[in-house]
Amino acid sequence: MPIYLTTPIYYVNDKPHIGHAYTSLATDVLARWHRLAGREVFFLTGTDEHGQKVEKAALDAGEAPQAFTDRVSQAFRDLTQTMGFSNDAFIRTTEKRHYAACQALWTRLADRGQIYLGGYEGWYAVRDEAFYGPDELTERDGVKYAPSGAPVEWVTEPSYFFKLSEWADRLLEFYEANPDFIAPASRRNEVISFVKSGLSDLSISRTSFKWGVPVPGDDAHVMYVWLDALTNYITALGYPDEGADLWRFWPADVHFVGKDILRFHAIYWPAFLMAAGIAPPTRIFAHGWWTNEGQKISKSLGNVIDPVALVEEFGLDPVRYFLLREVPFGQDGDFSRAALTNRLNGELADVLGNLANRTLSLIQRNCEGKLPAGPAAEADAALLEPLASLPAAVGQLLEKQEYHLALEEVFRAVRGANGYITVQAPWSLKKTDPERMVAVLGHLHTALRAYATVLQPFMPATMAKLLDQLGVPEDSRGLASLATPLPPGTSLPPPAPLFRKIEAGA
Ligand code: ME8
Ligand code: MG
Repeated sequence: MPIYLTTPIYYVNDKPHIGHAYTSLATDVLARWHRLAGREVFFLTGTDEHGQKVEKAALDAGEAPQAFTDRVSQAFRDLTQTMGFSNDAFIRTTEKRHYAACQALWTRLADRGQIYLGGYEGWYAVRDEAFYGPDELTERDGVKYAPSGAPVEWVTEPSYFFKLSEWADRLLEFYEANPDFIAPASRRNEVISFVKSGLSDLSISRTSFKWGVPVPGDDAHVMYVWLDALTNYITALGYPDEGADLWRFWPADVHFVGKDILRFHAIYWPAFLMAAGIAPPTRIFAHGWWTNEGQKISKSLGNVIDPVALVEEFGLDPVRYFLLREVPFGQDGDFSRAALTNRLNGELADVLGNLANRTLSLIQRNCEGKLPAGPAAEADAALLEPLASLPAAVGQLLEKQEYHLALEEVFRAVRGANGYITVQAPWSLKKTDPERMVAVLGHLHTALRAYATVLQPFMPATMAKLLDQLGVPEDSRGLASLATPLPPGTSLPPPAPLFRKIEAGA
């Protein structure tokens, strides 16, 4: 079964920050995991370039919207390189093919009697690109705010509407029949009670500005930016050509999103698709929110975390590891330099780096750099036996997007291996029992290979380095290759440290 994974497409009103890197990282790790397991994967990310918010940002920058979005979109594309993302495509909503897909979807909805012309009168938050009911707002100093904290403005204009109200029952049935559709479970209840409270028809076009996809047959309107944006997920697979080669990836296996945009993905998107006669996605995962040293991240506070600077300072793989290890995926989390430093120094360098370095240095020194092998004794069982089930255990957790538990699972094993090397003390066996030393180092090599293999999705470059040092050929790094031991006597290159520690408090 081909796997389709997506990130949100990010607004190009400003340059990327750690929150954008986080969602895409989670997507990347799962994409890499499925590939490691031999599955065919399509991993999509990109940028959301229309709407009032982006148009306003372009105006503020004194640039034409297209030139502005070209420039900012490039920063998001560059981020995929900086972060080592393995996306198969990068979509922009200003592409021609995307206009065609949006207009085809609109026409299909219209043909099915799902769209009518009316007038919108109500509150709109440009920052969220969202409509709000009066009961959702709070007022401070004469300004009304949405629950997200975004200020709202009063809008009166002609608008096309989508008959969302007709889909509430179908949506509830769908959630009921597909208990894993919305994750984590706490968010699922939130969505269900929102739908149960009743859905109004949704305004899906605007007339007060031009920066959007024109409504077919009525140029006075551009499409509501969320209808435009959500459609990206099918544009990328060739829609409206459902015979396109990539169409076999639909429906999406997981749409990764932050909790701020769950409503759009879990309510509007499946309703649009069902109304158009297209299968809804399989799962929406809404993760939590990062704060910075305890504070909300915002431009006005000047505490936005730049992922590029972070990677320069700490190294890419420690940052990737930290983001998914520190906070259970789905919950809010706090970024702190101290916590990142602790994970890097105390887990990556001291636990994994140290095990690799001790083992590989001893093989270099005491076995002429040749892969050692010997029989397993009873004392080796606790190290070796769990290795066979490690990939399945990690895979089961990743399929539920429980990244921190998957990492905990591997690191529990790595800590166990550190205990093993201390107790077996191969360094002192050289004189007393050289055959046993060879066997012990061989088992440690076997264990390290398994750990490095399953950790590749999290820390691709560092684990590639470790697998190089372990002498594992590039074509033998998939999960299935773990069943085939390397030939004893394989030459191993001299080891080099995997992680660079950061001075605490630096
Ligand atoms: O909403 N912590 O784009 P956007 C964690 N274009 N994640 C964060 C975060 C934080 N502090 N800040 C942002 C949009 N994110 C629309 C999406 S999809 C069809 C259209 C992440 O640029 C998180 O994934 O505002 C959030 O959902 C996303 O960035 C919002 O990005
Ligand atoms: Mg946003």
